[in-house]
Amino acid sequence: MLLNGKLPSAFGEILVEKIPYYTPIHKGQRRWLFDFAKQMGRSDFSSRGDVEALLQGLGYFYDHIKEHAEFEERFIHPRLGEVVPGCPRAIESEHKAIHADLEDLLRSLERLRNMPEGHPTLPQLGQEVYLATNRFVAFYLRHIDYEEDHVQNILLNACTADELLATFRSILAAQSPKQLSSNLRMMIQGINDPEALELLSSAKGMLPPQAFEGVRAEAEKAMNPERWSRLAARL
Ligand SMILES: [Fe+2]
Repeated sequence: MLLNGKLPSAFGEILVEKIPYYTPIHKGQRRWLFDFAKQMGRSDFSSRGDVEALLQGLGYFYDHIKEHAEFEERFIHPRLGEVVPGCPRAIESEHKAIHADLEDLLRSLERLRNMPEGHPTLPQLGQEVYLATNRFVAFYLRHIDYEEDHVQNILLNACTADELLATFRSILAAQSPKQLSSNLRMMIQGINDPEALELLSSAKGMLPPQAFEGVRAEAEKAMNPERWSRLAARL
């Protein structure tokens, strides 16, 4: 998966490689946030339908982020804390701020949704939520850049491929089929074809056949038919 140099050891049927935990999911999150920021820029805040659509989208992202941060803290941070004392604490305090920002945005959108449709202050109130959302995006981009450009490299250097793989397998095993599908969809839509192929090949090597069939079906749904047939031919 997203190679950092192949290593001469084997795990089951797949070659053990150093797994960068953050890149695929963060690419998916960036893609999602950029799309959401565009949607918000085009939204008419006087329209209850537009506001409702934003609420639903951001609610989905909030649930995703809570779960994503929990997996980082539960599975990655214990090892990170052994390597860099105190580092997880700093990241976890940012996670709390990220959750609080999203809760503020959701509360504001709910307030707008509950105001009378067409109320004269809605456009200006919506503009404030738009600006706050973009400030959140800027903060979140810095957070995941730190994790990906700093923490990920620390882990790649300090851990063996087997250690990284064992943790990755624990993260996979801890996810329900619904969580796996949702995370796969998030990743697939943000990564390029070689990365998607690596991801699906790794899943094929690590998951029981029935679970992989679910992943495969979800991947197919997340791609346009042309992209799927191009990748499926190489799986
Ligand atoms: Fe994080």
